Amino acid sequence: MKYMIGIDLGTSAVKLLLVNQKGEVIKEISKSYPLIQEKPGHSEQEPEAWVDQTIAGVADLVRQFDGNPADIQGIGFSGQMHGLVLLDEHHQLLKNAILWNDTRTTEECHEIYSRVGRERLLAITKNEALEGFTLPKILWVKNNEPHIFERVKTFLLPKDYLRYRLTGNLHTDYSDAAGTLLLDVHKKSWSKEICDLLDLDIAICPPLVESHERVGAITAEIAKATGLSTDTIVFAGGADNACGAIGAGILEEGMTMASIGTSGVLLTYEGNGDKDFQGKVHFFNHGVQDAFYSMGVTLAAGHSLTWFKDKFAQDENFNDLLAETADVPIGAQGLLFTPYIVGERTPHVDAAIRGSFIGMDRSHERKHFARAVIEGITFSLNESLEIFRDHGKRIDTIISIGGGAKNETWLQMQADVFDAKVVKLQSEQGPGMGAAMLAAYGAGWFSSLKQCADTFESLQVQKIYFPMKEHVDSYKKLFRLYKQIYTATRSLNQELAAFRK
Ligand code: XUL
Repeated sequence: MKYMIGIDLGTSAVKLLLVNQKGEVIKEISKSYPLIQEKPGHSEQEPEAWVDQTIAGVADLVRQFDGNPADIQGIGFSGQMHGLVLLDEHHQLLKNAILWNDTRTTEECHEIYSRVGRERLLAITKNEALEGFTLPKILWVKNNEPHIFERVKTFLLPKDYLRYRLTGNLHTDYSDAAGTLLLDVHKKSWSKEICDLLDLDIAICPPLVESHERVGAITAEIAKATGLSTDTIVFAGGADNACGAIGAGILEEGMTMASIGTSGVLLTYEGNGDKDFQGKVHFFNHGVQDAFYSMGVTLAAGHSLTWFKDKFAQDENFNDLLAETADVPIGAQGLLFTPYIVGERTPHVDAAIRGSFIGMDRSHERKHFARAVIEGITFSLNESLEIFRDHGKRIDTIISIGGGAKNETWLQMQADVFDAKVVKLQSEQGPGMGAAMLAAYGAGWFSSLKQCADTFESLQVQKIYFPMKEHVDSYKKLFRLYKQIYTATRSLNQELAAFRK
């Protein structure tokens, strides 16, 4: 039996999966690292912490593995998107990585619109200028730390730095490159036009490869530190959302996924780049060659529930808290929640908006609030789904992954709110599985990613939740009310921002 390692470089931890040719997860390791938040809106990490923790994780994995390490054929990668890593001419780090959830770059987003123009930006990159994306971060360093910027030889995305340290080779793949706002998404090349308009040297952009491509082997030093063979092949891998989609089998037209983790993602496969959502949702290259996906993001999905639990149900675990919501009727006895506790992305790009509970009544107990929170998160994802449907996409089945797929009440709620069949997979493993699948396909274990998905046990269907007509009708009425809360609370929140310290 042969094995692959899928590495998912997340925001709070690196997760490693050892997967065999049947798609069984033989070992699973997670190693965390801190987030550095020195100023409001700043969010950074030390790239070397990613490297140290990954090496420690792989070494643990190899140590705990009963078989021969030489049977571990390769490594695939998935990583948090958009983060900026800057290297000098000796490939030394110039500063901490600025992460996807760092929002210091509002002025740079305006600069992009004024110098490139919204229309050209959308035509080339298919996406809007958002604070979280990489290009505004590059411009922030250029504008605020010119002494560092003048030493920049190349930039990398987080997982690409990790892979560089394991192989010595610099690359990025199309799915991660698409999240920079520097890629011509159709042509699959860096945009000279955008670089020129912003006085950036296109040479700082790393070489582009496909996600399943072999990009080298691990160095002798890494082999020694981890116990892996020096023949271990390294594959490029992809953005975490692309890999999450691959790991959930989102590999052909008509396939859609709802992922509820810290953030929430509603993602649908696009067979070609023709769809034009005018920037209302993100549109990125997939980890599947020449395919794409569109995606809406709820910034605080699971995060809203964690916040609620930490503040109001500290002694409960998630299962007990969610169990309480099962007998609360739809609409939580007239209580609605908007999950804007850290601002929002889709459909309202708004860093100042904040959440609300609307309709509080003296009869409401904690379980009603908890139910309103999960309904609000689901409504928020439904806003992205509505955009897809309004643009002519037929979506009748949705694969649910992440925290939202762990609870029966929430799975049925998704089916009822989305008015679609909701599928729970056998043993969903998230982006790390997608990373392992890219390596498995790249190594020739399968003739396509689809064949890999059909073979791997964890991707098989465990249960399907069907929408119930009566529930669907109630949720439609509530969703109409939910959608009004953003407009009704926007200016209130703008003024309240002055009181947020
Ligand atoms: C996607 C995004 C996040 C990160 C988190 O646009 O910003 O999902 O990829 O890892």
